[in-house]
Amino acid sequence: ANKGLKDYYRSFFPVGVAVAPRNLAGDEAQLILREFNSLTPENAMKMGPIHPQEDKYNWADADSIVNFAQRHGLKVRGHNLCWHSQAPRWMFTDKEGKTVSKEVLLQRLKDHITTVVNRYKGKLYAWDVVNEAISDAPDEYLRNSEWLKICGEEYIAKAFQYAHEVDPDAVLFYNDYNEISPVKREKIYKLVKGLKDAGVPIHGVGLQGHWAVNEPSQGQLDSTIKRFADLGLKVQVTELDISVYPKEHNARQRQANDNDTSFTPQKEQKQLEVYKMSFDLFRKYRNVMSGVTFWNISDRSSWLDDFPVRNRKDYPLLFDRNLKPKKVYGEVVNF
Ligand code: G3I
Repeated sequence: ANKGLKDYYRSFFPVGVAVAPRNLAGDEAQLILREFNSLTPENAMKMGPIHPQEDKYNWADADSIVNFAQRHGLKVRGHNLCWHSQAPRWMFTDKEGKTVSKEVLLQRLKDHITTVVNRYKGKLYAWDVVNEAISDAPDEYLRNSEWLKICGEEYIAKAFQYAHEVDPDAVLFYNDYNEISPVKREKIYKLVKGLKDAGVPIHGVGLQGHWAVNEPSQGQLDSTIKRFADLGLKVQVTELDISVYPKEHNARQRQANDNDTSFTPQKEQKQLEVYKMSFDLFRKYRNVMSGVTFWNISDRSSWLDDFPVRNRKDYPLLFDRNLKPKKVYGEVVNF
């Protein structure tokens, strides 16, 4: 009765969950300890929250998550060291508000990575080093972020090198979303293959896994995992959730979703099928799949409740609002 996901999957891979410090008490903490053996800080280690000013670090939230993990023998994945979002404004500007040079920005990136990785060295087993550097626009390769505009492509390799210098034992990932779309997937492939061929210390690809009732298809997911596995990299699913709203590729689909926000048995059934198919493939690729992490604990609260529209309730996880396992849970552990 006390068996959790982590126990069913013991011989396959760790099963993780993204958390905030407020989740580490009460019934949520109990659920975490029963079901999961790895944690990812949902926001606490991102550059803006942890390093709000050049000479100021906020360690409290990240420390509390790492301490909880240490007390209970859980693994921790660090998330993340370099991202266009939630990056503090000061990082890119000088005291007069002028954009800094490439040299200054790379030095700041190095200082940041060195300080954060060093603080948690030996306590984190993996890091998402660079997050979401690829563009979603079909005809654009890299995202036109401040990082790219100021440094050029080089910042990506540098970030991996800085992290590896400080913690040579940490498993270093490139992490991105829409990874199952053939166009984006090939761009991610190009980036990580290029890094690997250049001898950059990259060890894995994180497939975020923000999926929905209508995608990915089995073929799409199978070929995505295989594509990266063939590169000799580890693969992890780093932010798994399956929205009950079909993926919105245009305004019409978005409107259709907004008009039907009920969580029906039909939607639950479709969600169950996508979860089952996904875990069947994760197990098939057990030799390269080195972790699966859910993005949030239960349907009580998910980032999707506020995305892409505020207050559109979603039900993307394996536990309901009372933290009880949903029907889908039984499918995921039945093999
Ligand atoms: O902490 C502040 C609070 O002080 C403030 O009053 C409040 C007002 O909006 O905002 C709070 O910060 C929010 C933060 O979550 C903590 O709750 C931010 O506004 C909000 O933007 C932030 O959202 C996070 C999002 O990343 C930021 O882009 C989500 O929680 C988090 O789940 C999400 O996670 C990302 C991964 O890191 C990368 N992949 C996609 C994934 C989902 O978007």
